[in-house]
Amino acid sequence: MVMIRPAANDLEPIERASRDEVAALQLQRLKATLQYAYGNVPHYRKSFDEKGVHPSDCKQLGDLAKFPFTSKKDLRDNYPFGMFAVPRDKVARLHASSGTTGKPTVVGYTKNDIDTWANLVARSIRAAGGRAGDMVHVGYGYGLFTGGLGAHYGAERAGCTVVPVSGGQTEKQVQLIQDFKPDIIMCTPSYMQVIIEEFVREGLNPADSSLKIGIFGAEPWTDAMRRDIELQAGLDAVDIYGLSEVMGPGVASECVESKDGPVIWEDYFYPEIIDPVTGEVLPDGKEGELVFTTLTKEALPIIRWRTHDISRLLPPTSRAFRRMGKIVGRSDDMLIIRGVNMFPTQIEEILLQHTMLSGHYQIRVSREGLLDQVEVLCEVQPPLVGDVSEERRGEIAIWLQHRIKTMVGVSTSVSVLPQGSIERTLTGKARRVIDLRAR
Ligand code: DLL
Repeated sequence: MVMIRPAANDLEPIERASRDEVAALQLQRLKATLQYAYGNVPHYRKSFDEKGVHPSDCKQLGDLAKFPFTSKKDLRDNYPFGMFAVPRDKVARLHASSGTTGKPTVVGYTKNDIDTWANLVARSIRAAGGRAGDMVHVGYGYGLFTGGLGAHYGAERAGCTVVPVSGGQTEKQVQLIQDFKPDIIMCTPSYMQVIIEEFVREGLNPADSSLKIGIFGAEPWTDAMRRDIELQAGLDAVDIYGLSEVMGPGVASECVESKDGPVIWEDYFYPEIIDPVTGEVLPDGKEGELVFTTLTKEALPIIRWRTHDISRLLPPTSRAFRRMGKIVGRSDDMLIIRGVNMFPTQIEEILLQHTMLSGHYQIRVSREGLLDQVEVLCEVQPPLVGDVSEERRGEIAIWLQHRIKTMVGVSTSVSVLPQGSIERTLTGKARRVIDLRAR
């Protein structure tokens, strides 16, 4: 923790409301959304009918569990606009997922949806300690990805001066930070690492920059990474979560005064945690897959969206809403190595315990015969004086290998490489896992 700005006294009334008030608003909005989706989206009418449920069966929030889930397949099957609940000419903007193969998943927003989105990102910026008049450097990619434009509209709505830099051109990013002196930076945590590195490469101390707040998200990152970035860049780092199908950035975001997991903006999104295998709803506190239902969206109402993100629901602290635990990983990123479940974030947490290692890493999984082999590639920190010898790197590798075996229970081979050896992602999300088994 570096510097905490005074807590906001300009919260919206609902951010300070009682749990009963929040639940009453959620129920009213949930009932309306179920009716609206059933009445306007053929997919929902069909899937509700097939499951034998009707919107009028929702009498309390827990009744949502009777309704069917929605998944990526449903969006793909209805590509491009079949899941929209409004005619195309009422859709003010389209975005699309960064999908790796095949058709992207397309999402749409009415003018009201964009307005809500801007309000929620503005609320997220205020939760991070940002205020009207602050300058916000937006380093999330602009385009079909929701990061850039989502952050941009929210920062404008918060009354900030926006610098729409997008991702990439890291030297220029550093120059603009030095010259314009922004207060806030919004980008992926892995890209923040790249920016920090560029400062150091240019002989500058990133902690001397004007930046006071970093709002990082779009990919899993650990508290160890938070401490590392905060220490190096001299700012308060908070976690912003979101996904295109549900809205974009700003579905949940962390409060700077507590930094205890993103607060879910529950007046707009109803969260559930389910057992990813059985689909059963789990109690708060239990780890499982996050599921979201939108409560006000017009163009693309989403009922029980399976995020594949693994997290927990936590009780309210700084706001009236529940929080989510930092995302452990995506269920599709979970590696099962010789029967042991492993997320890349576990490796991140461990390697950042070593002061000479940077947070740049990659995990390669391959198969030799019947056995899965895991190779962890990581790097030494930018050396302040001289290079780190090969012998020293070998010693660190042995330390790391041992720690991973003890903490995660998986045998790995570890290579500690010179600084700069691992691929840097300049415009999007870091690629932490290379799974060669699928080929
Ligand atoms: O990543 C939206 C976003 C942009 C969020 C900028 C935050 C900041 P998608 O490209 O649809 O949308 O990817 C959504 O990214 O299901 C998670 O797996 C992952 N993700 C997003 N935020 C976080 C976070 C944007 N704070 C997918 N921590 C989600 C961990 C995150 N994972």
